[in-house]
Amino acid sequence: SSLTFVTLLGSLRKASLNAAVAASLPALAPADVTITALGSIADLPHYDADIQAEGFPEAVVAMGKAIAAADGVIIVTPEYNYSMPGALKNAIDWLSRLPENPFSAKPVAIQSASPGMIGGARAQYHLRQSLVFLNADTLNKPEIMIGQALARIDGETGKVKDEDTLRHLAAQLEALAVRARKNRKA
Ligand code: FNR
Repeated sequence: SSLTFVTLLGSLRKASLNAAVAASLPALAPADVTITALGSIADLPHYDADIQAEGFPEAVVAMGKAIAAADGVIIVTPEYNYSMPGALKNAIDWLSRLPENPFSAKPVAIQSASPGMIGGARAQYHLRQSLVFLNADTLNKPEIMIGQALARIDGETGKVKDEDTLRHLAAQLEALAVRARKNRKA
């Protein structure tokens, strides 16, 4: 049977390098996998327990449902000040408070891209730490940390153009599919 993955994007800007990575994924997916994008994290208010007490915002509920229904989540994010962007952390904070945490036991893959050399590696370890508390089934390898991303992404098409990067992305999607297929059988 077929699998569905959803992408969670950590950048809000139109010309985002990470958005270009996320946009490249559907064409790289294994034959039995469909990949769609979650709604924007910009639609979520700042986490506030007082708002929560009056009812979860519709955008949080919708995002939680989409994650719960998916066989895997791919988080594609920039690194801000050696960590994940605040807007992404905010989304994770909201989703973690839903009555049923949609990340629990969910196969998750992490990708990051940066114009710098390190490719967002330091953000990944902060993100990974939060995903431990959410009990996500986060893939260890293959890792996707796309350094010097300006040279690997085509600004015209808004997609990854570097062949080596495309191969690594496809390999990670296959690894996530292996994990998700196992999860289905369990
Ligand atoms: C950055 N950038 C950055 N890059 C990096 O490799 N490590 C870092 O710690 C940071 N810190 C940082 C903080 C803030 C506030 C901004 C705005 C930027 C640069 C960042 O990688 C670059 O702007 C990317 O292009 C952002 O990703 P998107 O929006 O292109 O996906």
